[in-house]
Amino acid sequence: MGFNTFQYELYFAGMGGKVPDLPVTYDALEAAAREVLDDRAFGYVAGSAGAERTAAANRQAFARWRFVPRMLVDVAERDLDVELFGRTLPAPLLAGPVGVQSIVHPEGEKAVARALASLGLPSILSTVSSFPLEEVAEAAGDGPRWFQLYWPAEDPVTDSLVQRAADAGYEAVVITLDTRLLAWRPRDLATAYLPFLHAEGLANYLTDPTFTAGVAEPNEHLSEQQAAVMRWIQVFSDPSQTWQHLHDFCARSPLPVLVKGIQHPDDARLAIDAGVVGLVVSNHGGRQVDNAIGSLDALPGVVEAVGGTVPVLFDSGVRSGADAAVAIALGARAVLIGRPWVWGLALAGEEGVRHVFRCLLADLDLTLALAGIPSVAGLTRDVLVRADTPTG
Ligand code: FNR
Repeated sequence: MGFNTFQYELYFAGMGGKVPDLPVTYDALEAAAREVLDDRAFGYVAGSAGAERTAAANRQAFARWRFVPRMLVDVAERDLDVELFGRTLPAPLLAGPVGVQSIVHPEGEKAVARALASLGLPSILSTVSSFPLEEVAEAAGDGPRWFQLYWPAEDPVTDSLVQRAADAGYEAVVITLDTRLLAWRPRDLATAYLPFLHAEGLANYLTDPTFTAGVAEPNEHLSEQQAAVMRWIQVFSDPSQTWQHLHDFCARSPLPVLVKGIQHPDDARLAIDAGVVGLVVSNHGGRQVDNAIGSLDALPGVVEAVGGTVPVLFDSGVRSGADAAVAIALGARAVLIGRPWVWGLALAGEEGVRHVFRCLLADLDLTLALAGIPSVAGLTRDVLVRADTPTG
C-alpha cells in the first residue's frame, strides 16, 4: 500500500463527520502553532536572520521549477525506497536536527524519535537537545538515528560526545558548519531570548564528564546554572577551525562524518577531500546569513561538483512533498524536514510529528504518481522545467 492511503483515512473519517484535528498545510500548521506557543518560543522557531530575505529566497527558489507531468505510465506501484549509507529507507525523508525542543513540547526530541521510528525514517538529534542523547536513543528503539554536532572548541568534549553517540547506536555524525557564531536574529533580539542562557538545550553537555569537569564551582555570585551556562558559552564552538581540522576529525571519528551547511561547490569539494561520506546542502533555514541565495539555488552546482562521489542531502524551505520531489529531481538523495514537523510537535507531540510526515509522504507519493514517475530513482533533472516567472 502506498503512502497516498493517508488521504483516504482523512476522507473516510469525514464520512463520520470528522475533519482532521491537525492542519494539512504548512501555513495552517504554523498559524495553529502560533496559538499554542508563547511569543518567545514561536519567534525562536519561526524567525530567521536579519530581514529574513534568505528564508524568503528558500521558498522562492522552489517556485522557479515546474514538473511536466507524463500520462499513461504504469504507476500502480510506486517505489519511494532510497539507499543511504547501507540502509534502505522507505522514503527519502529525514527529520533534520532542531535544538531545544522542550520549548515547544515537554516530550521534545523523544516524541520526534518515536514518531520517526514508527515510520522507519531517520531522525537527526541536535547537539543542543533537551534530553541526553542516550535517552533519545532509547525512545528511538530500533529506529535509524544520526547525531548532529555543533563542533566544540575542545577536542575532548567533541570526542566524548561523538563516542557517546556511537555507543548509543547513532549511525552517523553530521557536523553543522554554518553556526560557529549565532546570527543576528531580530525576532529573538526583540524578546531578548536565547534558550541556552536559560540552560535549555544543554542536556548533552551537562551529562558529559569532559564538560562538567570544567564547570566552575558555584559561589555567592555564581549559581550552579550560571556556571554551566558560562562554560557552555566557552565550549560551544571555535570559529578558528578550518578544513584541516575537519580532515583531522574525519580521520579519528568513530562514526561516518557528514557536513551540513554547504552552499558553495568549492566547499563541497573541500569537504570531500577532508573525508566526509556525505553532505547536506543547507542554509539553516535562512537562520544564519541574510541576503544569501536560496538553498535550492545552491543545490545543482553542489551536485555537479560532487559528481556522484558521495550522497548530497538537502534542506531549507521544504514545505510539501512536491517540494521534496523537486529537490530530489535536482540531485538530492534525500531531504531533511525542519520547521514543518516542529509545528506538528508543538500541536500534538509524537502524533503531531507523525501527522506532518504522513502528509509529506502522501503528497510526495501522489506527486510522483500523477507526474508519471513510478520511483524516486526516476526523479531526475529532466522531469523539471524552469518556470518563466516566480509565482510566490
Ligand atoms: C534549526 N536548525 C538546526 N540545525 C542544526 O544543525 N542544529 C540545530 O540544533 C538546529 N536547530 C534548529 C532550531 C530551529 C528552531 C530551527 C527552525 C532550525 C536548522 C535545521 O536543521 C534545518 O537546517 C532548517 O530548519 C531547514 O530550514 P526549514 O526548511 O525548516 O525552513
